[in-house]
Amino acid sequence: MIRVRVPATSANLGPGYDCMGLALGLYNYITVEEIEKGLVIDILDDSKRFLAADERNLVYRSMMKVFEKTGYRVKGLKITLDNHVMVTRGLGSSSAGIVGGLIAANAMCHNRLTKDELLRLATEIEGHPDNVAPALFGGLTVTVMKKNGPRYIRADIKDDLRFAALVPDFFLQTKKSRTVLPRTVRHKDAVFNASRTALLTASLLTGQYDHLRTAVGDRLHQDYRRKLIPNMESIFRICYQNGAYATYLSGAGPTIVAMVDVKNRKFEEEVRARLRGRLREWHLYMLKADNEGATLL
Ligand code: HSE
Repeated sequence: MIRVRVPATSANLGPGYDCMGLALGLYNYITVEEIEKGLVIDILDDSKRFLAADERNLVYRSMMKVFEKTGYRVKGLKITLDNHVMVTRGLGSSSAGIVGGLIAANAMCHNRLTKDELLRLATEIEGHPDNVAPALFGGLTVTVMKKNGPRYIRADIKDDLRFAALVPDFFLQTKKSRTVLPRTVRHKDAVFNASRTALLTASLLTGQYDHLRTAVGDRLHQDYRRKLIPNMESIFRICYQNGAYATYLSGAGPTIVAMVDVKNRKFEEEVRARLRGRLREWHLYMLKADNEGATLL
């Protein structure tokens, strides 16, 4: 039996659209057994209301990609999913499924594929690398697409930051959230984002967090997506009023993430109190970064 733990991820981090991401300490667990024949998928948690439990299942489809590539002839499969990453909320649930499936199948094939090959496969399945890279490697990842696949650098995230994930009750499909983006942007907006992406990377790597609020500025996606996310501005305001270093839309949304100093003890209590008013559909999860990535247990 093979058991894999895969972290949630938060992509874009403001200006790093489709290239930056980080892993969070919230996990999906995938258990796989080879059986004599057929396919059995058991989903233990509430995500079974949204996920297919047959050949369309993303974990299963990702596993099959590894078997195709390595020539492994699987007899049958029993897959058990224990998911804690909320589905369709901008926290990398599909990437967690893809990466979990790839790692589990690769373990069945005696780890014939390298992690770089798994990243290439995961990116092909997901369509962009910014969630799958941190799900695989943990920490902060910067990914660039080249013709022959993604190139990346990963780095540990320091333990002095906490990530406040504000998750609403409503869903937002990435596909839909990408349709509201413009096909072209102005040169000065591209410069705005390029400069902030560089500042963001430098701030996180050096621990100069006072730059983070400027560094998460974005003109490529957040403003366009605002109309799909009721109360996005109120959530940003509440986070900044309570001392967040930075607040940004996580991935394609609708979750909003605030980076908070570990010593900012009042943040959690104060923000929870503010959500109890007219923002009851938003829920706060205080998370640590994950620096391990997908792990075989
Ligand atoms: N970079 C992606 C987006 C992340 O913003 O659409 C969502 O998967």
